[in-house]
Order: sequence, then structure tokens, then C-alpha cells
Amino acid sequence: MLGVAGGIAAYKVAHLLRVLTEDGHAVRVVPTEAALQFVGRATWAALSGQPVHTSVWDDVEGVGHVRVGKAADLVVVAPATADLLARAVAGRADDLLTATLLTATCPVLMVPAMHTEMWLHPATQANVATLRQRGVLVLDPAVGRLTGTDTGPGRLPEPEAIAAAVAAVLHTGGRADLAPLRVVVSAGGTREPVDPVRFLGNRSSGRQGYALAAAAAARGAAVTLVSANVELADPAGVSVVRVGTACELQEAVVAAAADADVVVMAAAVADFRPADMAAEKIKKDATSEGVPAPIALVRNPDVLAGLVAARRDGSLGIGTILVGFAAETGDAEGDPLDHARAKLARKGVDLLVANDVGGGAVFGQADTTVHLLTPDGAVEGPIAGSKAEVAHAVWSRVVGLRAAST
Ligand code: CTP
Repeated sequence: MLGVAGGIAAYKVAHLLRVLTEDGHAVRVVPTEAALQFVGRATWAALSGQPVHTSVWDDVEGVGHVRVGKAADLVVVAPATADLLARAVAGRADDLLTATLLTATCPVLMVPAMHTEMWLHPATQANVATLRQRGVLVLDPAVGRLTGTDTGPGRLPEPEAIAAAVAAVLHTGGRADLAPLRVVVSAGGTREPVDPVRFLGNRSSGRQGYALAAAAAARGAAVTLVSANVELADPAGVSVVRVGTACELQEAVVAAAADADVVVMAAAVADFRPADMAAEKIKKDATSEGVPAPIALVRNPDVLAGLVAARRDGSLGIGTILVGFAAETGDAEGDPLDHARAKLARKGVDLLVANDVGGGAVFGQADTTVHLLTPDGAVEGPIAGSKAEVAHAVWSRVVGLRAAST
């Protein structure tokens, strides 16, 4: 069931409805009367192919307010306005949407969108905290352009990102098993500038890191995503910090890790960078007899090793779980799993996610195959599936590690 409250972002939810039906979901739309001020009943009816009611006095013979809530596998409310959140907290049942929220026994996912002042108001923040305490999944709004010229937290995430959150909640059955953890995920590939127009980069698309961030938010975690050069929509309910180089990524990850419970380093971080960035574009004519000047490289910091060391010396919380990735290819020394075992020992992390990237497999693809390695010698896998499915397997393993350590 898709509940739509009366906010301007309702127009984006028409597209969300389209995405959800294209994903194969049967969606019953329950707007509030105020939502119909923004997008009319005919739009919801045509896009969902189902009747659209707003009041408990519609469809009385079918006892709609009970039936709709009971039949749903998931209730999504987008946009969840300040008023809707307040009415949900108070247990009001003054329209079909709020009545349905009282009768629904399935997971409930709220996607708030409103002006920054309304979102930050203590009344709204208290309402969100109460709903979360009751087991409702409430995503933090995106930061960005709002109606008018102002920007700030309060934006509705992009429809595709909300659809990914819906898929994640359906996958876990609405278990907020990562609440109230704070997690940091790095994603993408760093770019090290050679001159103003060129860089040394890598083929990471950021998809796995974004899937990890989306899955964690849908499982109730407060997520900071440190994103290096990724062209994907921001995951819903996630705070995104954009970086370019390995040094910038290190700074952002270390800052976010200070109060984190889990750090997942999914980013492909360049091990080296040009010693100096040319101030002007390097011209081919400036080379001697057609032979380019070599580009001297220097080592970049190893971000993950830095976190492991910080945990050892006490500057990072002893209980912080550190997760590394290993993109391996087989060679004369051993197969990808042998390399991963060696890397797990070398890196000193709590969990290593290893995938075989031989022949360009994985990069930019929707599907992947991984093994999960832990210091006790356990190897889980192969786990094959979409990057979202792999993300859930990683988080389930993290939940297991936390349970084992407490
Ligand atoms: N990583 C990092 N900082 C770097 C390089 C890598 O934090 N400068 C992290 C990656 O995000 C990943 C893990 O370390 O989680 C493994 O990265 P990889 O490049 O495969 O490992 P290396 O230690 O560089 O090993 P090698 O080059 O020998 O394969």
C-alpha cells in the first residue's frame, strides 16, 4: 500500500508508483485529501489500476480501512508530511490513510519530505523518534533543493532510491536489526589528478557500496555514505558526503568513523597518486621527441589500515566493526580466495568481502559473487546474486559478529 500525504513531493510519488508497478508490485494507493490538492485521484487510479479512496466513508461495505491495512505486505508513506507523522504518533484515524496505519500488521516505511524548519522542529523530531521506537522505519530525508529557492534536509529521495528501500524492507520483512547503529560506507573509485583535465582512476561504479548503504538504511541504521565519483541516485535515508581523491576520502571516512559502530570500506581507493599535479594541462608537444615525461607516483594512505591501527591504539572505539573488500584475480601464487585469506590476515579486519574480478567481471554489473571471510577461518559463500542481495548478506554477517561480541 502506498500512502500519499499532502506535500508537493506527491508529484514525484506518481513516478515512484510507476517504478513499483514495473517492479511487479500490486499497489493500492491511499492518498489524503490534502494529497489530492497536488496530484488528482485519476492519476493514482490510472497508474495503480486500483480504486482510490481517501475516507473511511468510502467503500463502507468493504470495510476498507481494515481490509487495506490487513492485506498489505508493506505500507509505504511518501511523502510523509509533518502533519501525517504527528497524526500517526497520536494514533488518529481521521482519514483512510491514518486508519490504515492503525490496522496494518505489516512493516511500515515512512519517507518524510517537508521544509527543513518543519523537519528540524523538536515536535517532528520527537514524532520520528516515537515512530522508530514503535518499529516504524522512518528514512531521513535527502538534503537538497526544496520547493522555492531554499535548500536543506527535507527533500524526498528520488523514486528509484525509494523503490530500492522498498525492495530492501520487503527482503528483510521490516526487521530493523541494524537500529540504532551508526554505519559508514565508502563507495566508488577515487580519482587522482594528473593535470586539470586528467586523472588516474579505476573501474569501480559504486553500485556495491550504494547497495550496502541502501540496505543498511532500510534495516534501521543511521548511514553516512562517503561517495567517490559515483553517478547513481543518492540512496534513500542516507547522508552522502562526496569526495574525489583518496586523501579526501580518508578525511571524510575518519571523521564519520569517530562515532560509528561499523565501517565498510567498499570504495576502490587508489594506492598511489601523482607526486605533483601539473598546474596546466600537459601538452604533447612539451614532450621530448614524442616521449612523455614519466609521472612520478607517491603512496596514498591506506584508509582501512589506518582505521585498524586507530582501533588498536584506542583512538577509534574498540567495538567498531571494520569491514574490508578485496577485489582479487587469480595468478600463479594462488586463486582469488587464497589471496583473500592472506589479505584478511594482513589487514586485520573483522570481515572481508572477497570477489573475483578477473576479466573485468563485477565492475558496473548488477550481479556479483562474493565470499565472506572472518578471522576465525570461517568462509561463507559463494554468495551469488544482485548487489542488493549481497549487501544484505554482508549486513546479516555483521549482525552475527555483533551478537557474538556482546
Ligand atoms: N583500501 C583502503 N585504502 C587504500 C587501498 C585500499 O582503505 N589506499 C581498502 C579498500 O577499500 C578495501 C581494502 O582496503 O576495503 C582492500 O583493498 P585492496 O586494494 O584490494 O588491497 P591492498 O591492501 O591494496 O592489496 P593489494 O594491492 O596487494 O591487492
